Amino acid sequence: MSQDRGSVELVDVTKRFGSMVAVDKLNLDITAGEFISLLGPSGCGKTTTLRMLAGFEQPDEGFIRISGEFVQGVPPYKRDVNTVFQQYALFPHMTVAENVAYGLRQRHVPRSEIAARVTEALDMVKMRALADRKPRQMSGGQQQRVALARALVNRPSVLLLDEPLGALDRKLREEMQIELKLLQSQLGITFVFVTHDQEEAMGMSDRIAIMLDGHIEQLAGPETVYEHPSSAFVAGFIGRNNFWRGVSTGSGVRASDGTVFVSSSPEERVAQGAPALAAIRPECIQLSSTDPDRSTNVIAGTVAGVSHYGDVLQYVVRTAERDVLALLPRQGAVRLAPGDTVWCHWDAAEVYQFSAEQADLVIQDPAAEAAPE
Ligand SMILES: Nc1ncnc2c1ncn2[C@@H]1O[C@H](COP(=O)(O)OP(=O)(O)OP(=O)(O)O)[C@@H](O)[C@H]1O
Ligand SMILES: [Mg+2]
Repeated sequence: MSQDRGSVELVDVTKRFGSMVAVDKLNLDITAGEFISLLGPSGCGKTTTLRMLAGFEQPDEGFIRISGEFVQGVPPYKRDVNTVFQQYALFPHMTVAENVAYGLRQRHVPRSEIAARVTEALDMVKMRALADRKPRQMSGGQQQRVALARALVNRPSVLLLDEPLGALDRKLREEMQIELKLLQSQLGITFVFVTHDQEEAMGMSDRIAIMLDGHIEQLAGPETVYEHPSSAFVAGFIGRNNFWRGVSTGSGVRASDGTVFVSSSPEERVAQGAPALAAIRPECIQLSSTDPDRSTNVIAGTVAGVSHYGDVLQYVVRTAERDVLALLPRQGAVRLAPGDTVWCHWDAAEVYQFSAEQADLVIQDPAAEAAPE
């Protein structure tokens, strides 16, 4: 067991609620000490997966191993895991130290040991100075640190975190992301981190499991899921993308509006002549106010809107069939105003091609797509 400490393995795990399949033959192998995120839209099965690891739910099929041991029928408190939830669920009438000590008291750990371990856990999250406060006397970030200490005090080899930063405002959230990541690498504990925030997952994880409808669409490092998305869904979920419906030409896609997308490295995903999607990331689109005089990888339109986001400018370009989103660095960008005629073009290296199966998942109403966040 010792060499596997902190590893997690899910094999063909299925969980149903009545006729609803929440987790669908899910396979996942997590290495000890890894920071892995489960990322996906609401209802894709993230929490259910975590609850099965924690022992709050039992799989209907498949099996789970934690630290090398099968955990079927093993109750939560006997598993080598601890969970941190979005709502910190601290006891309001207890001090910080009492909250952290609670689990150890329940298990009749000797008093002197409790004191030492509570101090150690509070040090980890830099909350020792506030040991005597009550939860209501602290900020959300501080409360979440206490919740973290309460999980760490048990010295689990796997920490399960279900949207632990979801209740925090953006700035605090970003600070906590850095602290959490630091803590994880210092302690060497395996983190299984649930979020639906892709930036959060990208910034913190060794690998990201992108989930959809109870299964994993892609499992890979942040760079790979961004640069080599395995499906249209992943391409639309990680970062942003402009999608066009069309037909595969083998080396690219002929879109229904006549635009021809030619890829310099066509992946053999879609058979020639089959329905396909082409995708270009907004930051890969270049804008010219003059006709670049090419017949492929170009589309003409009119500037419909410009938004300023500090270091980047976002343009919405209205073309015959749809609105195209383009992100340009503020420095050196051509200045274009609404109403201007413009040509969107891109390098062949930036063209993605996907099967059309997930078209309805990734192509929404253009007006909604173009709206700023
Ligand atoms: N106890 C339950 N009884 C019935 N259905 C459930 C139960 N728990 C979850 N589900 C359903 O299972 C599916 C997966 O739910 P889950 O909570 O795992 O999603 P999630 O990915 O965590 O979503 P969110 O991002 O909204 O938290 C959903 O369709 C949900 O409605
Ligand atoms: Mg959830």
